[in-house]
Amino acid sequence: MRMLDGIELSEYAKRREAVLKSLKGSVGLVFAGDHPPPLRGDWDPNFHFLYLTGILDEVGAMVFFDPTAPDPDKRIILFLRPTNPEQDIWDGLREPLGQALREKTGFKTVMRTTMLPRLLTEAARRSKKLALLHPIANYNAPIGPDYELFQKVAARLPGCGIEDRADLIVGMRQIKSPAEIRQIEAAIKATKSGIERLWKSLKPGVSERTLHQELIRGFEDAGSKRVAFDPIVGSGANGVILHYKQNDQIAQDGDLMVLDCGASINGYAADVTRSFPVNGKFTDDQREVFTTVLKAQEAAIKAIKPGAMMSDADKAARRVLEKAGFGDYMPHGIGHHLGLETHDPGLYHEELKPGMVVTIEPGVYLPHKGIGVRIEDDILVTKEGNRNLSAGIPKSAAEMERVSK
Ligand code: GLY
Ligand code: MN
Ligand code: MN
Repeated sequence: MRMLDGIELSEYAKRREAVLKSLKGSVGLVFAGDHPPPLRGDWDPNFHFLYLTGILDEVGAMVFFDPTAPDPDKRIILFLRPTNPEQDIWDGLREPLGQALREKTGFKTVMRTTMLPRLLTEAARRSKKLALLHPIANYNAPIGPDYELFQKVAARLPGCGIEDRADLIVGMRQIKSPAEIRQIEAAIKATKSGIERLWKSLKPGVSERTLHQELIRGFEDAGSKRVAFDPIVGSGANGVILHYKQNDQIAQDGDLMVLDCGASINGYAADVTRSFPVNGKFTDDQREVFTTVLKAQEAAIKAIKPGAMMSDADKAARRVLEKAGFGDYMPHGIGHHLGLETHDPGLYHEELKPGMVVTIEPGVYLPHKGIGVRIEDDILVTKEGNRNLSAGIPKSAAEMERVSK
């Protein structure tokens, strides 16, 4: 079993205890997911499961919350799929149940999923309340895994209800602990290392591919083993494409480049964007757009504080863009929560609280001029207001004119 580094076992245990308490007597299940490991890239567990366990590679695992269990040690159970020697030939050996596994995971009780039907039915008979902890699916998406299972349980048990508690773990995940903030800061440091390494190779005629490779080497130099998302290394007209990731063109003299990237450290993401001239000198048009986007970003960051909402930051940025005549050229939102996922769960119209980390990333895209500018930083909400965690990565116009060789 592989586990995330960087967060103590005791912190995972505290998170689970907090869920148990908040369930107020209802039974809950959090699934790791059971899609098969892909040939390309890592298998990622469901992020709620990862948040509660740190376990990276147990396909089909679950965390079971049963506040009504008579034995206190059985109120939170880690369920793992039975071992299968045939499958282990493909995926590697899995540990047997026992003390060593309990110590490694920090769970007092670890069982095989073959036991779940009986335990879940017993729990449901005692509690009569099953709580949905996974996100509620839109009607055109597959039903959530907990709802699918709970419907079967409830169909066999008169008086058993199913309740929506999908905001519970989302709310917990939004407030980052000091240990989580340290991981995000480390991811930002690795991102800085990558960006600065890329800048060392930046000049007209260099390929986006070479720059991409330098970026990744710079992440790795700083201890990152994977990217938080596919980086966007977009020169000229490619910088206008919001999700450009081919990174296979040549950066030309006179192009602006949009570099949107993030390293991942111990499962936590960074997400930073810088925009700079490939030849070290903004044209007048480029400078006008750049200066406006930077001003919009500063206004939006200023709006980030406890009690404010992401929508307030969005409005602050758009006011600046509109005044400069670019009001129609930011087709995306101002940002998103950041954490285990690059796009961590969170809503536009909910109050920001200390401990939340969000991105602020206004942009202006002018396809008719081949000019795209986005500037993105990672902002921690503090009691006093906010702290820009990625402030150490240069971004001013003067600095951006110095990064090209
Ligand atoms: N690169 C994805 C984002 O900025 O949201
Ligand atoms: Mn980004
Ligand atoms: Mn972002």
